[in-house]
Amino acid sequence: MTTPRPLPGSVDDVLALLAGGRYVADRALATALFLSLKLGRPLFLEGEVGTGKTEVAKVLAAQLGRRLLRLQCYEGLDLASAAYEWDYPRQMLEIRVAEAAAAHGREATREELERGLFSERFLVKRPLLQALEPDLSGPPVLLIDELDRTDEPFEAFLLEVLSDFQLSIPELGTVRAAAPPLVIVTSNRTREVHDALKRRCFYAWIDYPDAQRELEIVRSKVPQATERLAREVVGFVQRLRAKDLFKLPGIAETLDWTQSLVALDRTALDAQAVDGTLGVLLKYQDDIARLRGAEAEALRQEAATAAAATLGGLPGSAP
Ligand SMILES: Nc1ncnc2c1ncn2[C@@H]1O[C@H](COP(=O)(O)OP(=O)(O)OP(=O)(O)O)[C@@H](O)[C@H]1O
Ligand SMILES: [Mg+2]
Repeated sequence: MTTPRPLPGSVDDVLALLAGGRYVADRALATALFLSLKLGRPLFLEGEVGTGKTEVAKVLAAQLGRRLLRLQCYEGLDLASAAYEWDYPRQMLEIRVAEAAAAHGREATREELERGLFSERFLVKRPLLQALEPDLSGPPVLLIDELDRTDEPFEAFLLEVLSDFQLSIPELGTVRAAAPPLVIVTSNRTREVHDALKRRCFYAWIDYPDAQRELEIVRSKVPQATERLAREVVGFVQRLRAKDLFKLPGIAETLDWTQSLVALDRTALDAQAVDGTLGVLLKYQDDIARLRGAEAEALRQEAATAAAATLGGLPGSAP
């Protein structure tokens, strides 16, 4: 039998646990996560697109050896897709079998049949219900992703699950988790999530990383990139985020861009490579058109100068 891996015992343990899954967290996020694990409360993560909200849950599950149950939210998400539904075709089949049995004189009472039809055997379990079930490797990680995409009635339903870790199934009774799952809720804040739900969670805002953390992320995720390329990419992206663009690049774009430049055999940024790969970094034509040419070149030169200054100060580094 597997024994569940223990939860991290301190904020530093959380940082180390996530780093083991190549996730570079800042202290504020690690503290919020530590407290939510310690006190058994859901963690509500809000932030810009591509800043590592979903990844927290994935890395947490992988590092703790827990099952990851992911509920991807969308407009119109209902109970049947989120929690459970009855397996209607199988129930119909069961009724036919019962009818056939009755024809041979082995008639089940109506109550028996009904009880059978609404038993666990015919229940299709979706992530919210699965998350309440015991698991040998410990309570699972339940990721409720992009909650802002659902509507308010669904949020109201989530309240019961998140506050008491239980779910009522009218035909069956209340299912209660023996040990609560580790819950992470994310939102891109396309709308405000209701206060009643937020109150049940601990909250952390995930901002764009500062240059130091972004560099660590690039080093960790794209180790093939030279130190110079990594620094120039991060310097460029950090400066780009200060511009008034329609859509700023997230960490996902920084990583994609670095990988693309490595694939193009670049060990540093050059004007041609930058212009040719802007579509990896920016996803709106207006932003790309504005940046291509002089503006991108100015950013590149600033980033190159800054990287050279730091690298020049490091022993043994090439100019
Ligand atoms: N702190 C981090 N350390 C390492 N990798 C990171 C970090 N943050 C983000 N990433 C990487 O960036 C990418 C995007 O992360 P993720 O999908 O979690 O973002 P998100 O905030 O959920 O974005 P969206 O709002 O679009 O859903 C992933 O490949 C992830 O591995
Ligand atoms: Mg996400």
